[in-house]
Amino acid sequence: MHWDNPLRGGDGHIAVGRVATLGTSPRIDARSIAGTADTWGRTASGDHPAAGQASNVSSDAAPLPLLADPDRSGLVDGLGRHIDYLRISVTDRCNFRCTYCIGEHPAFLPKSEVLTLGEIDRIASTFVALGVRRLRLTGGEPLVRRGIVGLVASLARHLKSGDLDEITMTTNGALLGHFAGSLAEAGLRRINVSLDTLDHDTFARVSRFGSLDDVLTGLQAAHRAGLTVRLNCVVQAGINDRSIDELMMFAHGRGMDLALIETMPIGRASGERPDRYMPLGLVRADLEKRWTLVDLPDRTFGPARYVRVRETGGRVGFITPISHGFCEGCNRVRLTCDGRLTLCLGRDGSVDLKPVLRASAGDEAIRAAIAAAVAQKPQRHGFDLSHADRGGVSHSMHGTGG
Ligand code: 5AD
Ligand code: SF4
Repeated sequence: MHWDNPLRGGDGHIAVGRVATLGTSPRIDARSIAGTADTWGRTASGDHPAAGQASNVSSDAAPLPLLADPDRSGLVDGLGRHIDYLRISVTDRCNFRCTYCIGEHPAFLPKSEVLTLGEIDRIASTFVALGVRRLRLTGGEPLVRRGIVGLVASLARHLKSGDLDEITMTTNGALLGHFAGSLAEAGLRRINVSLDTLDHDTFARVSRFGSLDDVLTGLQAAHRAGLTVRLNCVVQAGINDRSIDELMMFAHGRGMDLALIETMPIGRASGERPDRYMPLGLVRADLEKRWTLVDLPDRTFGPARYVRVRETGGRVGFITPISHGFCEGCNRVRLTCDGRLTLCLGRDGSVDLKPVLRASAGDEAIRAAIAAAVAQKPQRHGFDLSHADRGGVSHSMHGTGG
């Protein structure tokens, strides 16, 4: 199957000329996405003839996860928040060098400091025993870690036993063409794929090393493998804030949600990042000039606030750590690739589980260390709300996991 980048103007794809831009938006005709056959053999809204009404292009997307039962037991922090979601960075390495995430010549950790897959499995399984219901594998780029499919297959035993609800992954998508099928077979159902733009030049500028064509091939493979995909787009002023419409139409035309993310001041990435921060309130206001956004009830585990776009039927999520805090409902902690438990993405400080892990034969000491660490989870992040690159944190996004 062949799947072009719509910006290249292949048959039946969204034409560049119809794309709106933030600030200087030529009005976009919502019907421009109707009836455009994509190479997945359906139309952007052709499966849903009521374009312009509340059609549901994303009807084949998984429902948003329901709120967890507040009465359940498990890991609880000092403020009574239930921690049932663990994000695991399986490597700090990446085949991209996104400007907001990583420097051009990063110093990666020596292999001896990175947890083995067996150690990751052991910590993750201890979290599951303590009540964690969802695992997300991240990086760096999780698909550059050798043996990653085996890790998913091994962790999937907790899905089969009913102790875990899902295993997900956040990936840049470049290697999905190779791995999507085996990941699905191993037990993965949903993935988030980072995609900031459909423009080749912008993609190259932001990812430095990445190839947009690889990601598009990867997305197609994910679709073939039956994986539910959410696109993650970090919005940067002057880079991609003027092309959200085309990304949205691309996503919704293929049954994918689109999550927009504010640039966070994490790690030592690009010097230009402060100027690139864009409050998503502005993006939403701009989208509302052309699209009807219907707020969806807040029923996600995560920080995204979702709307349904009436004209496409698809969903857009807004992840606004800087302009609107979301800490009160935070249900997650993160395991870095070298075995530190980060209790908050927006705070420096972590609890090193690796010495406990490597010293102890039994899991009891690990359980105790996890419970003690979770009890100290900070109330809220420490990002400076007045400026996105002040009050930042120094741990790296690629080592901590986005
Ligand atoms: N701010 C916001 N999002 C970021 N990501 C990486 N670095 C940053 C940052 N500084 C995102 C990636 C990916 C996820 C892992 O985190 O784009 O979607
Ligand atoms: Fe790699 Fe993701 Fe960081 Fe980009 S944002 S450099 S793809 S880890």
